[in-house]
Amino acid sequence: MPKYTITDNYALIDKLKENRTLTKDEWTRLIAERTPELAEYLFSLAREERRLHYGHDIYIRGLIEFTNYCRNDCLYCGIRRSNSHAVRYRLSEEDILSCCHTGYGLGFRTFVLQGGEDAFYTDEKMVRIIEKIKKHFPDCALTLSIGEKTCDSYRRYFEAGADRYLLRHETSNAEHYSKLHPSSLTAAARKECLWNLKRIGYQVGTGFMVGSPYQTARHLAEDMLFIRELNPQMVGIGPFIVHHDTPFADQASGTLELTLFMLGLLRLMLPKVLLPATTALGTIAPNGRELGILSGANVVMPNLSPTSVRKDYSLYDNKICTGAEAAECRNCLEKRMEGIGYKIVTERGDSLNL
Ligand code: 5AD
Ligand code: FES
Repeated sequence: MPKYTITDNYALIDKLKENRTLTKDEWTRLIAERTPELAEYLFSLAREERRLHYGHDIYIRGLIEFTNYCRNDCLYCGIRRSNSHAVRYRLSEEDILSCCHTGYGLGFRTFVLQGGEDAFYTDEKMVRIIEKIKKHFPDCALTLSIGEKTCDSYRRYFEAGADRYLLRHETSNAEHYSKLHPSSLTAAARKECLWNLKRIGYQVGTGFMVGSPYQTARHLAEDMLFIRELNPQMVGIGPFIVHHDTPFADQASGTLELTLFMLGLLRLMLPKVLLPATTALGTIAPNGRELGILSGANVVMPNLSPTSVRKDYSLYDNKICTGAEAAECRNCLEKRMEGIGYKIVTERGDSLNL
């Protein structure tokens, strides 16, 4: 690569740090022309930025995957409606509370209720579950990740005590979105949900898959611009990973390398954002989550679901930790984080990006 280009791209990273954004063309170029050396430079700035705001603390979120029934048919996802091989399950209110109880004892102060879009859990049922969790664990934050709902439903959950909501936009580009989803789902509707959630007062998390089929550097540039505009409290990204029982069975998975680069860029764009090193990242590489932290991430989200159902929440192939107890993951992560000089803390871990 000619030297002037390299110099230019280092300067682009400096510009990103200075202005906290780039133009679409600049984002595209930086992503498309990235090199290992450039990435190292980016990661060192990203680590410095996260240290300024969050020190070496790592926030943990206890993930409770409470239903794998889903009315949607996203082409990439293993629990899509048309996957007749998926073994479906639902957790009862008692099961969910028992997961929280175990998690509380292990030092979790945030619980994330994640599930497919499952009509079994009516608004009334969700409100009851939310109220119970908040009543039993008043010092904990409660995050929902249950997909697209009406503004009214979002408001009811919020009034019942839900604090945060995770809804990845998946890809900002409408045409790309339509290649990953059935026509019943649109990028516009997804974004509308995110704006509604913000307006209601949730701490909002969005995000996207890295290396999803048909994704280009320009699409990723558009993701950065959308996230910059939304200014969420959290951004969850992970590599797309093939699931063998989906229409994308023959596609290539995303890479560790590009995912880490995008984490670094996100940390520089939104210095105070909460950025998880995701399970998908830990799945494509044995030390993926550690590398994610070293690229600017500051959150990990181990699983609190009962081991009996773990393997059935299969969004993609070879997901890690499906055989482990909650306590095992908690200890494992503690060691992993200590191994790279970071420390898991027992706190709610609210976002400083307000
Ligand atoms: N690979 C990686 N991530 C996936 N998700 C769904 N299916 C896959 C897959 N095959 C992600 C989506 C969703 C989140 C809960 O999991 O981004 O928002
Ligand atoms: Fe689950 Fe390591 S985090 S076993």
